[in-house]
Amino acid sequence: MDIQLAIAPSLAWDWRYGVNDEKAEALYKKAVSEQWQAEQLNWEYLVDPARNLLDPARETLVDAAFFRLLKKSQREHFEALCVAETLSQTLHGEQGALLVSCQLAQSLPGMDAKLFAATQAMDEARHIEVFSRYIYRLHDVYEPATTLGRVLGKVMSARHWQAKLVGMQIMVEGLALANFSKLRAATNCELLRNLLRFVMRDEARHVAFGNQYLKSSLAQMHADERAEVEDFAVELVREYRMWGRNPGDLSNFFANLIAIGVDPPDYLAQLKAGFAASGSLALAPKMMQGLEAVIMPGLRRVGLITDRVRDCYLGDELDAAVDMRTLEDLEKSLLA
Ligand SMILES: [Fe+2]
Ligand SMILES: [Fe+2]
Repeated sequence: MDIQLAIAPSLAWDWRYGVNDEKAEALYKKAVSEQWQAEQLNWEYLVDPARNLLDPARETLVDAAFFRLLKKSQREHFEALCVAETLSQTLHGEQGALLVSCQLAQSLPGMDAKLFAATQAMDEARHIEVFSRYIYRLHDVYEPATTLGRVLGKVMSARHWQAKLVGMQIMVEGLALANFSKLRAATNCELLRNLLRFVMRDEARHVAFGNQYLKSSLAQMHADERAEVEDFAVELVREYRMWGRNPGDLSNFFANLIAIGVDPPDYLAQLKAGFAASGSLALAPKMMQGLEAVIMPGLRRVGLITDRVRDCYLGDELDAAVDMRTLEDLEKSLLA
């Protein structure tokens, strides 16, 4: 998969050392004191799909009635493949976050913010290490989904660093946080639960930094440039809404079906029948929840859902009058 080549980020030096931005400095200090190592996790733990990798009562990755008809061994194998596939997309997102945080260290104007971006780059390096090690316990790493590749390419290539913060800290990492939270609740694998606990604490800092830094910097932008960032947010939300509709988003999933001996057209026929019966089956329900619970509140909080673009979100069936509680509760529990 080719991910759009990024233009070089603008380079900003700051010759004023010492603390000039207390909020950014506080998050930098917090990041330094919360550094951890992959070796703190118990890599001796046996990752075994037969020990309920996903709790059948809580899982969200494999939820179609169709799979309840599978044999136990088939279902366990499929769950392991689906977890590996989901975490592979996470892993590619982590690489995107590493590259973008390096861009941010170059282009953010203040030294405290640059130092924070440097801690984020280290965090993302560690996330790449632990996720790849975990995935190889289950399977190989899968190809990036088309939509993810498109989103990462757009964030890497964004002209303004404010747009990079929107794309990475509010959208990619906000969605990752929502998905980690769901996966952590659904898995019985102790290694995965502990790994996600460490990673989520880092991601909550990254999301908090984006929120905090964007609020003030957006207010200082020229109106035309600020409008560009608002439009960029609309464009990325639209991309996310396409998740599962680009054929390249589903090829890994279909490969997993074939691996357990299920014919993809049979699966699609069952899905269609389920939709006809209930009227409410979507291929990617996880994405919608993350958008509504985490991304839209994040955009609203930094002031990007303005009157000028509000209707664009409504046109995409997303209510701009968002509920902030899920995002705030998640942050409160992780940033304490
Ligand atoms: Fe990360
Ligand atoms: Fe992150």
